Amino acid sequence: MAAVRIEDVVGDFVSLRKQGQDFVGICPFHDDKNPSLHVSPRLGIYKCFVCDAAGNPVKFLMEHEKMSYPEAIEYLAKKYGIPLEYERTESDEERQQRSLRESLLIVNEFAEKFFMDQLRNTDEGRLMGMTYLKERGFADATIDKFRLGYSPDNWDSFTKAALEKGYKEEYLLELGLTGKAQSGKLYDIYRGRVIFPIHNDAGKVIGFGGRVLKKDGKDPRKYVNSRENTIYHKSDTLYGIYFAKNAIHKQQNVYLVEGYTDVISMHESGVENVVASSGTSLTQGQIRMITKRTQNITVLYDGDMAGIKASMRGIDMLLEQGLKIRVCLLPDGEDPDSFAKKHRDSELQDYLANESKDFLLFKADILSKDAGNDPIKRASMVNEILKSISCVKDNIERAFYIKECAKLFDLSENDLNLNLRRFVWEKTKEQSRTVQQQTQQQGQGQTGAPMPDGPQQSDVPDLIDTQKHQDIAPQTDLLYEAEKELVLLVLNYGNYLVYEDDGAQREGLRVDQYVCNEMMKEDLRFHYPLLEKIFNMYAGWASYIGNQDQIIRNFTLSDDPQVSEFVIRHIPVEPRFSEHWQKKYDIHTHTTRNNIRILQNQVQNILLTFKLRILENDAAIISKVLENKELAEEDLGLALQQLNKINQLKRIISQRLNRVVSR
Ligand code: GTP
Ligand code: MN
Repeated sequence: MAAVRIEDVVGDFVSLRKQGQDFVGICPFHDDKNPSLHVSPRLGIYKCFVCDAAGNPVKFLMEHEKMSYPEAIEYLAKKYGIPLEYERTESDEERQQRSLRESLLIVNEFAEKFFMDQLRNTDEGRLMGMTYLKERGFADATIDKFRLGYSPDNWDSFTKAALEKGYKEEYLLELGLTGKAQSGKLYDIYRGRVIFPIHNDAGKVIGFGGRVLKKDGKDPRKYVNSRENTIYHKSDTLYGIYFAKNAIHKQQNVYLVEGYTDVISMHESGVENVVASSGTSLTQGQIRMITKRTQNITVLYDGDMAGIKASMRGIDMLLEQGLKIRVCLLPDGEDPDSFAKKHRDSELQDYLANESKDFLLFKADILSKDAGNDPIKRASMVNEILKSISCVKDNIERAFYIKECAKLFDLSENDLNLNLRRFVWEKTKEQSRTVQQQTQQQGQGQTGAPMPDGPQQSDVPDLIDTQKHQDIAPQTDLLYEAEKELVLLVLNYGNYLVYEDDGAQREGLRVDQYVCNEMMKEDLRFHYPLLEKIFNMYAGWASYIGNQDQIIRNFTLSDDPQVSEFVIRHIPVEPRFSEHWQKKYDIHTHTTRNNIRILQNQVQNILLTFKLRILENDAAIISKVLENKELAEEDLGLALQQLNKINQLKRIISQRLNRVVSR
């Protein structure tokens, strides 16, 4: 995956601007207006300076596009024409799951083609299906674009054709294309219906909707839809997203409608940024599909008040996500489909442009009319609106709504504000509760700074075997920090030269080599397996890869997510010796000689600190052992002796450390 360029991958979804060596853009992982996302071609990673989004190209696709790991790999392989080997990256279970998904998609693709062919190339299809679609006002181009089809009105035409082609019965059943009668006979679920294939946002058919044609049929359902299965999740699907995504991006707005026919008719009228959710309120998954493209939604309502009120509750959730919601109320008795049909393209477009209103003001208006002059109703109406306003994250926007509502309800802004605080406060409490619960469930190490697996060993030479006392080993942050610093030192400065202080001989030694030598000499070992692993991986690569950035890129692409996470999180995106690192390590760039001296000091400092922390850790273990009242007398003696020795060493190291620091 060395050919993968992070700026290409991120750039496919976020518009990036060059800044020095790097690229910057608006971070898609949190609500932002500033270019906080930094993309470093040098390191092959992205990092947001505001939220903690960070990762390599694979992680970006997984987080942003909600791909699974194998899907992301496949995406990159396709993009760069890299041949794939699956063995290493996929478990058996994943492979099975993937091959099931792929098989189901292939069967769906066959079904889509079959239905399309039936609609266009058979007498029944043309007579029944095509006539109906034409009557609905759909042009050929639209019918082709949405890949509409027809399923013949026979018991099992489709199922037979599929089985003949060798597609497995179990897949046909799983996809809900085929049913099984009690007698065991297989039949076509969609028989006698026009077919609306449902595509995911990559354009793959994941399901079907089928509309009945005959009014006298035994099946009373107007529409039949795919049931939930491995590839079709209703709650993660927006009908039309594949055909709308470019327009959504361009227009920076999406129209939300009810169903297939609304989407298609609006396309027919030249409005392409439109999707349908098959439920009253959007799910989190659907919202993400939208927010990664735009923050603006316009909900199209037909004139039915009861329906409007029911759907309003769902909209608060959208406000919470920072979405800007507008609503457009269609004339009584019209849905987008019928309205589009009755009006010229420009009339529909003008209507949408002129009649779309801010959701909160729209809601306030409706509730206000409803409440009339009844004081109790008005009070609860005000609260209802304030609750919605409290969902708005942006302070300035909130202030705007308060102002408008004050006018609308003839109340003072101050009163409204006071009342609003209550809702905001309640909301914050609620959120912090759920966050707490989540972190408790996830446990340590999942999200925050990695403190993986406690110390694994201790290296007090003789006497008391501290390894035996692992269970009581204090997990010290300081030891972790020291080991982390050491690892970061070699990652960042491994290829810089330092000079050993033995008088005449002034031959330069690489920092990584120097550190390795010191660790060998004193038999220093890591206590944290992850850090040890990274250090060892580094040592392995550094011995034959001359380019430090290349080594870092190898890390950021590592198969071990803990390894890549750690490196990505801790490596600075800016070039080394940047301001950030100068400050952190007090390195100044004016003269190379000075740099060398300071770096050399720093190396000493980090190594000595590491030694000191090890000793402290050992001392803590022994102190714990000493707390044991049943300790035999001779063991007690040994332990005390050992502790003394450690304390002596600690003093020596502290003194040297002070010298290094104050130099
Ligand atoms: P007519 O207006 O009677 O010609 O029917 P239609 O096909 O336009 O459907 P209708 O106006 O009743 O509904 C509009 C949209 O809602 C349709 O395009 C469908 O997407 C959806 N819809 C309607 N009825 C059903 C149903 O029974 N099940 C499902 N899943 N969706 C439906
Ligand atoms: Mn209709």
